[in-house]
Amino acid sequence: MVKKTKKPSNPDLSIKLCGVMFENPTVLFSGIYESPQDLINASKNGAGAITTKSVSIGLREGHPQPRIVKFDHGFINSVGLKNPGLEKAKEELKKMLLESKSPVIASIFADKTSDFQKLAKEITEVKPHILELNLSCPNVEGEFGRPFATDAKISAKVVRAVKKVSKKVPVIAKLTPNVLDIKEIARAVEGAGADGISAINTIGPGMIIDIKTKKAKLGNKRGGVSGPAIKPVAIRCIFDIYEAVKIPIIGGGGITTGEDAIEIIMAGATAVGIGSAVYLRGRNVFSEICKEMKVFMKKEGYKSLKEIRGAAH
Ligand code: SIN
Repeated sequence: MVKKTKKPSNPDLSIKLCGVMFENPTVLFSGIYESPQDLINASKNGAGAITTKSVSIGLREGHPQPRIVKFDHGFINSVGLKNPGLEKAKEELKKMLLESKSPVIASIFADKTSDFQKLAKEITEVKPHILELNLSCPNVEGEFGRPFATDAKISAKVVRAVKKVSKKVPVIAKLTPNVLDIKEIARAVEGAGADGISAINTIGPGMIIDIKTKKAKLGNKRGGVSGPAIKPVAIRCIFDIYEAVKIPIIGGGGITTGEDAIEIIMAGATAVGIGSAVYLRGRNVFSEICKEMKVFMKKEGYKSLKEIRGAAH
């Protein structure tokens, strides 16, 4: 008699983050795509959630070209928070909310707590699924000083002010790895009422020099470093944040494959931020990463992401 073997079931990649259901844990990080149509297409191409470019009150033209340069193990970028400003961004957000197949995370940026609050009030009226506070862009220090996320008290102050006006929209704080103790910042934003954390923003700033022209390759000379080169730093930051707080984490930084995604979930991430991998692997990166995650999970006998979240602790 032939013995019946049980077929391994398809692993479940769905997650719930801040009360919002995602079909899979991949999240398009902010700033990768500018146009609403590209963001909508990312949702159609399998992104579990999409994050808009960080929006400021007024239009920003961004830094001089080139704004992104590739190197052997990643990228360096200095876009300078180019965005159309609040009014146009609200219209774009409405379109994304209508047409996206996956939840939309609206990202905002300001250089003053009061402007963060104004942006949060106006953007949450459009009802994005989640609001991201970009406290950590490393490319505008010349204009605005050090990123808010390098200071626990200031980060907490911004979160507190935003939570007063954000209604039912969950608020997540995007943190920088460019600090001595990311746990301190994570605890501060959690204490101020943040519903989640997104990490990491780019490392640096760094610089790449063209040795023929003897000039920095980026228009703005210095820029944030991303891509596979920074993955070990991202993994350590997520590991540290998971130890420090109870709120969920969108963890990313150099995540390029399904196995990278599994690794950052084992460090403690609930969702997985995908950024530079879009440039490296193309628009289908989200569905490919999900496929690769399932291959690993099936092989190891895992049925859901709950079984591996934080497993490295
Ligand atoms: C930029 O626009 O320069 C990058 C955005 C960021 O790192 O937050």
